Amino acid sequence: MSLKKLVDVVEYDRGCSNVQRIAVLTSGGDSPGMNAAIRAVVRKAIFHGLEVIGIQRGYSGFIDADMGPMNLSSVADIIHRGGTILRTARSEEFKTPQGRAKAHENVLRFGIQGLVVIGGDGSFRGANVFHEEYGLPVAGVPGTIDNDIAGTDYSIGFDTAVNTVVEAINKIRDTATSHERTFILEVMGRESGHIALTAGLAGGAESILIPELDNNINEVCEKLYRGYKRGKLHSIIIVAEGAASGLEIGKKLHEMTGLETKVTILGHLQRGGTPTAFDRILASRMGATAVEMLMSGNAKHMVGIAGGKIVSESLADTFKCKNAIDLELYKLAGILSI
Ligand code: F6P
Repeated sequence: MSLKKLVDVVEYDRGCSNVQRIAVLTSGGDSPGMNAAIRAVVRKAIFHGLEVIGIQRGYSGFIDADMGPMNLSSVADIIHRGGTILRTARSEEFKTPQGRAKAHENVLRFGIQGLVVIGGDGSFRGANVFHEEYGLPVAGVPGTIDNDIAGTDYSIGFDTAVNTVVEAINKIRDTATSHERTFILEVMGRESGHIALTAGLAGGAESILIPELDNNINEVCEKLYRGYKRGKLHSIIIVAEGAASGLEIGKKLHEMTGLETKVTILGHLQRGGTPTAFDRILASRMGATAVEMLMSGNAKHMVGIAGGKIVSESLADTFKCKNAIDLELYKLAGILSI
């Protein structure tokens, strides 16, 4: 393509819209890649001539008017950073009509014409109610390591968290082999087994316990026993926190088999760290699309990804049910760990 043509395309892409000022916030549990999403929102908006207000501490800052203008430099040097430069919170006040009324006063005061919410299903529920009450166009960007949001194959941060867990499994495998021990690894996922299942399959775990399914401890024991009979040096069992407590499973397995069990709870380290390339690209695509949605008057949707393509999902449908786990993956993990 000639340089002239390329310039034409760029000019055309800038488009025009009645929206002149949007705001962005991150809400709920943070996830690696949220910064890349903020960067995409700010830069894409500025590219189209829009102004961007950054709201601190999620809906809490929305209520307290903790917000200010962002520019190209505000989002420099953050694409590779975990956490969120805008901070985040789980706001109880925004769940009340009084809290949302205060936030609406700030919408008028700051001249906000659209809001990008980067967060999980609880954050989208809040955005949806706010839109219904006050009509402010909202665009959701799914950011949670749990990957439990309906309407998208992946949410930002999930891939990084899975890689963190796989790295932990690799390390635990070394010491488990040396000592011929059974390790129980508790991972995050209060209501979701996506991290446990995906990391368990990638890490070659013997058993995976997740909240979406009935977990049979007798089957776990039988598998352990069969493994040791054929000379296996170690076993790794992944437990999603929503399925059971790792400590309890460790205790039970010891009582039932007599094997030495050790428990590692990975906890919040799964929420931090530099985002993977996958999460950065996902965040960049989703953040940019959220701005396009607001510019085109698409008032109450979440950006999703399905089969590698960016899609738009009605916000209200994102929190009515959970992103289902892939049963084929679960079966495969079982077959490969016989
Ligand atoms: O929603 C993401 C998540 O990381 C869950 O997996 C976990 O149970 C929860 O957040 C922990 O929340 P908090 O950081 O508020 O303790």
